[in-house]
Amino acid sequence: MKVEKAIEKRRSYRALEPVEINDEIIRELAKAASFAPSCYNNQPWKFIFIRSSEKLDVVRDAISKGNEWMFDSSCIIAVISKKDLDCVIRDRYYYQFDTGLAVGQMLLRATEMGLATHAIAGFSVRKIKKMLSIPEEWDVIALISVGKKSRKKKVIGDESRPERLKMQYVFSIDEYSKKLSKKVKH
Ligand SMILES: Cc1cc2nc3c(=O)[nH]c(=O)nc-3n(C[C@H](O)[C@H](O)[C@H](O)COP(=O)(O)O)c2cc1C
Repeated sequence: MKVEKAIEKRRSYRALEPVEINDEIIRELAKAASFAPSCYNNQPWKFIFIRSSEKLDVVRDAISKGNEWMFDSSCIIAVISKKDLDCVIRDRYYYQFDTGLAVGQMLLRATEMGLATHAIAGFSVRKIKKMLSIPEEWDVIALISVGKKSRKKKVIGDESRPERLKMQYVFSIDEYSKKLSKKVKH
């Protein structure tokens, strides 16, 4: 699949059906992430793949209201990192930027593999840390649901891609444009 196609195909679907997530799939997703660029090649990203039904059941309790669709995930990835794993240049901390780049690659590779992925911020960091025994100093940046897009279930929002900002509000050329700071509704 061309990158262009994977970018177009990837969607944060909520209607999921089960799919087997074997060790090979996990390795492949982690590999796609690890090929991402990072400041000084620091590779600050770490991933905890939650795959057993027992652990997936436990993690349910950390998912915020409104994100119950995530209970149908076949796997949930906890994305974690720490400030000191990556470049700090004055007030610029690169660990979250670089981890985001890695996750972006992982999501596209998952799309290519026919998997549905959906990142969320709506969860309890405190509970996730406790449930997965993550030491206090780590940041839990996001959870990512992995499953298969359901052919039967219908969930509102899945039918079309949420609208994107018009390009004039996304980039400018040669200098800053006031349009970049315009508060636009999408
Ligand atoms: C950091 C982050 C946090 C998100 N949090 C949630 C969330 O808590 N619940 C949810 O349903 N979707 C969440 N999303 C998914 C976005 O709503 C979704 O990516 C956006 O609407 C664009 O839709 P698309 O991914 O299908 O193109 C999150 C996405 C990101 C990247």
